Amino acid sequence: MKIISEISELRLQITTWRRQGLKIAFVPTMGNLHAGHISLITEAHRHADKVVASIFVNPMQFGVNEDIDNYPRTMENDQQKLIAANTDLLFTPTPAIIYPKGLDKQSYVEVPNVSDGYCGESRPGHFRGVSTVVCKLFNLVQPDVACFGLKDYQQVQVIQTMVEDLSMPIEIIPVATTRENSGLALSSRNGYLTEEELKIAPALAQNIQWLAQEIKSNNDFIGLAKQAANFINNAGMKTDYIHICHARTLQPASEDDKELVILAAAHCGKARLIDNQQVSL
Ligand code: PAJ
Repeated sequence: MKIISEISELRLQITTWRRQGLKIAFVPTMGNLHAGHISLITEAHRHADKVVASIFVNPMQFGVNEDIDNYPRTMENDQQKLIAANTDLLFTPTPAIIYPKGLDKQSYVEVPNVSDGYCGESRPGHFRGVSTVVCKLFNLVQPDVACFGLKDYQQVQVIQTMVEDLSMPIEIIPVATTRENSGLALSSRNGYLTEEELKIAPALAQNIQWLAQEIKSNNDFIGLAKQAANFINNAGMKTDYIHICHARTLQPASEDDKELVILAAAHCGKARLIDNQQVSL
């Protein structure tokens, strides 16, 4: 696996592969890799000749109250996992390489509507940071396809909308969420959970699943979501939001919608966990 931090060196390698007519798949990450991330690399191999991953803890997507300095950085370990998964190139830029003028003077990409509610509301500026860095990484890596985890469902919709709205010639491949046996979605944030909280946390996925069953026979979406929030709170978490939405627009679901997604976030101790489930009626 080649490990490259400099843009010029990255461009040289990408140009060489493109000249050889090779297809490139891209998996952007912030590191602290787990089996969920590696499932994206595995999926990427199915779609391309070369797989490029990136590790960049993106300051633009962290809020002022969010502790970017304490975001887990495990580069050595991550590299071993990427090598084991046959990754061809790892791009590891620094903030100075990605934002040489500083964040204040940086152009940005803002995707309206799908960025606005849910995590966009709880984390102002978050999705602007995500769409901007992903746009920039897309321009550097020039992939044919890029894999994103459905664990971050709203993020997938933001990226898909950006690609459509700005006519980027890249196919976005959504990849199913990797979970623990308990149903808990794998996440770097699970590392913040105590042993006690690890027992509570699966209640988020379990109650989303309960709600997914209930809405098949009851269209009181708001009432049912409130009930699910109470269950999550009673389990020992603090629900940030739980909503039943149109699967693509993420607008609150109406009775006629057939393709839905349940989006939820809850605080468990120090960690803010998110999860979701798609439902076809
Ligand atoms: P990060 O949280 O590191 O996640 C990188 C990718 O791994 C994302 O596409 C995410 O959805 C996926 N992922 C995380 N947990 C997963 C799981 N349990 N199952 C399947 N996929 C999972 O998401 C980001 O980084 C950043 O916002 C990024 C897109 C890199 C932009 O900075």
